[in-house]
Amino acid sequence: MLAALLSASLLPAAALVAASPSVQPRPRSVVTRGEGFLHATVHAVSGLPSLRRRAVQDEDVINVRSGTSYVIDIEIGTPGQTVTLILDTGSPDLWVNPSCATANIPAECNKWPQFDYTKSTSLKESDFVDILRYGKGNATIVYVTDTVTIGSAKITNQIFGVNVESYDIPMGILGLSPAIQANAADNYPFVLDTLAAQGVIKSRAFSLDLRSVSSPSGAIIFGGIDTSKFSGTLARLPMLSPSQTPKGADRYWITLTGIGLTFPDGTSDTSGAISVPVFPDSGGTLSRLPTPIFQAFGESFPTAQFDPESGFYIVDCAVADVAGSVDFYFGTKQIAVPYADFIWQPSKGDCVLGVQPDDEEPVLGDSFLRAAYVVHDQDNRALHIAQAAECGAKQNVVTIGSGKGAVPSVTGGCAEGARATRTGAGLDATATREPGNIFTGDGPRISGLGPGPAGGRTPTSGALGPSGKANSGAGRLGTGSGWAVLGAAVGVVLGGLLLV
Ligand SMILES: *[C@@H]1O[C@H](CO)[C@@H](O)[C@H](O)[C@H]1NC(C)=O
Repeated sequence: MLAALLSASLLPAAALVAASPSVQPRPRSVVTRGEGFLHATVHAVSGLPSLRRRAVQDEDVINVRSGTSYVIDIEIGTPGQTVTLILDTGSPDLWVNPSCATANIPAECNKWPQFDYTKSTSLKESDFVDILRYGKGNATIVYVTDTVTIGSAKITNQIFGVNVESYDIPMGILGLSPAIQANAADNYPFVLDTLAAQGVIKSRAFSLDLRSVSSPSGAIIFGGIDTSKFSGTLARLPMLSPSQTPKGADRYWITLTGIGLTFPDGTSDTSGAISVPVFPDSGGTLSRLPTPIFQAFGESFPTAQFDPESGFYIVDCAVADVAGSVDFYFGTKQIAVPYADFIWQPSKGDCVLGVQPDDEEPVLGDSFLRAAYVVHDQDNRALHIAQAAECGAKQNVVTIGSGKGAVPSVTGGCAEGARATRTGAGLDATATREPGNIFTGDGPRISGLGPGPAGGRTPTSGALGPSGKANSGAGRLGTGSGWAVLGAAVGVVLGGLLLV
């Protein structure tokens, strides 16, 4: 069957161009605002290169491509300065100005504008410092307050971080998750909270529609749902409470109840019923799923071979061009991720399945999210998800209200795709196994897969309360003291830390 599949699918090399991770010129961000909602373009930025030192004697330094990141342009300060930020549903904080010298590739980081806080007349500095830790990298930030503008919507006195020292993170981050720990001393109103509190949107809810690198049409809609971007119903999935999750962190956790694979001939195979907590994370390039699920996909996916060196399932890049999907079930809702969206091409000619094993905190990353339309309703602690689709350039945005029924039960305007015929329950999603096909060639070098979910924060000086304490404290920039004072304040704090 595999041979037939491949011979039918070996298209000219040109057909693969769309899937290659080259940096596309970005169209300008478009933000439109309607009654109670804010619609902003989300761009895919791909090919952020990074270096990985191979664990072999010659210590070759090899250029590789890291993952695709989804970014948004917003303005900060008065007058507004545009910054481009990674849109991250796996962490709550907004911060700017990564340290490019210690980013994966300084030149890549340097491409993005930094926020010059000395030029903002509305910025107020605090003396509160936090260390934010991500799946990959960390940032030491000083909290400030300032005006944040998204299109024509302005929120004032937003607390956010100005970075003073970060590692392995090439861009600032706009976090949109709930507070990771509900009662942490350093929680404060995040951007989504402020958008609702200041009346831009009616409740703390937004829709996220991530698209492939070659498509310019991805969007985030604060307070709204665009029915021209999905098919079928929006399935309501309650967010798990932190006590039901592996590490007790509050994220957009939902329950994955089954997996499947649809093959190019239209047949599909599925697993038996499972109950696995997972959370969508737009800041993660790949999905990270429990080992049995990772293996169930890898062992049955057309052409896949396990590469012990990289830990990935390597596939023939041509498979990205054939019909077929990797299927996820949430109760009765199926999200079918086309092969092309699930396969990741880290370097030219190298393709891998966009999934890694993770038995601790499983994540549905961008390799899943490109195929899903996800409404995040923090006020009612629920996600509403549907199969992403495209039915015309015309937006049809429905406003999300407030209260219990804030997210209206709307049906996507796009036609639903044909369902595969289920032929069995042959995918074992519960047991680990010895990989059947082992890859023996020279595999891709892979690193730098986006920030990943926030691991937590460590306040190093005081607590930042919702009372706007950030406005107090030493070293206010309004005095014209500039980076010197900020730097000195942080130096003292970090110095203190080092001595502890
Ligand atoms: C941040 O990451 C760098 C590089 O991995 C590491 O050396 C440093 O100790 C980390 N800092 C903190 C505060 O965790």
